[in-house]
Amino acid sequence: MSEVLHTHWKSPSNIALIKYWGKTGHQIPCNPSLSITLDQAHTDTRIEALPKQGDFPEPELYFEGKRNLPFETKILGFFQQISERLPVVTSHKLLIHSENSFPHSAGIASSASAMSALALGLCELQRQLDGGARDAAFFALASDIARLGSGSASRSVYGGLVSWGKHADLPESSDEVAAPLPFEVHEVFTKLHDDILILDRSPKKVSSRAGHGLMKGNLFSEVRFKQAHQHFSELLEALKTGDWDRFIAITESEALSLHAMMLTSNPPYLLIQPETVKIIKELQDFRQQSGLPVCFTLDAGPNVHLIYPDTCREKVQELLSMWQNDSSFSFEVLPDVMGKGPICLK
Ligand code: DP6
Repeated sequence: MSEVLHTHWKSPSNIALIKYWGKTGHQIPCNPSLSITLDQAHTDTRIEALPKQGDFPEPELYFEGKRNLPFETKILGFFQQISERLPVVTSHKLLIHSENSFPHSAGIASSASAMSALALGLCELQRQLDGGARDAAFFALASDIARLGSGSASRSVYGGLVSWGKHADLPESSDEVAAPLPFEVHEVFTKLHDDILILDRSPKKVSSRAGHGLMKGNLFSEVRFKQAHQHFSELLEALKTGDWDRFIAITESEALSLHAMMLTSNPPYLLIQPETVKIIKELQDFRQQSGLPVCFTLDAGPNVHLIYPDTCREKVQELLSMWQNDSSFSFEVLPDVMGKGPICLK
């Protein structure tokens, strides 16, 4: 009889600068994307693997202490897809305990941290059975497995600035696995902040999965994929040369293009709110007046992410306190920074 195995991984969320929006085949992105791995917003996942019970033992999933049956069904489908590569999902019954560091519906992409923490835990269990090191191949497998659970999760397996998806400027890039940028970025981009301004905590009316699907019928999709390729090239250049103006122009254009794709889907839909637009405009005015390199990006929701270097921290904090003392604004702030990537706790 096989022994009981344990793993414990903590894996962060990420925020995309170049957006993955539209996919094909088996979780293959229609364009390359590039993200900042976060530090504070993470998922903590412990897995206990018990000796086999039944042919395809059904996993048990506990989210924040409570058994979560809808998530269990999703995970079972995911396990069926990966069982050839990670036989531990059939040779053992897995008890999964998962917790997020960030509040429910905080507008943070929880699938990126959740699926990367799960993928790392599963790869770790398999590594305990087969031997081997936690080397580059281990993380590439984890990124590939995470991608099958949620595309953006493939990038959370690595810290810093991470790309996913084939692009001519990065010969090693792949649609199956993400990788950290293969060059040193300019020092002005080494300490980035992401303050997440939470305007609305209600669940999204259209899921990201459905949003990706609607790109199939979107008349502008091919042009959008071309734009993302071009933005990707330009952003790499800006990151190498330390060009904040270019970084800002691309990052903000990407956020608005993502939402433009929602507006031009069939049926069209709108996830931003009047408060989103108000903050964007106020931020752009602040940037013009102060000359500071602070910009916004958006996820598939109304909340605004403020991206800026550590050198602007005090000025941005002053701006946020001023907005929070003004009754015409209403938001909460979740401060975060670029992080080093997942950690194995056991
Ligand atoms: C707007 O990774 O959540 O955050 O692969 O269907 O799970 P699935 O989608 P998901 O999509 C993320 C979309 C995005 C942009 C991004 O993170 O690149």
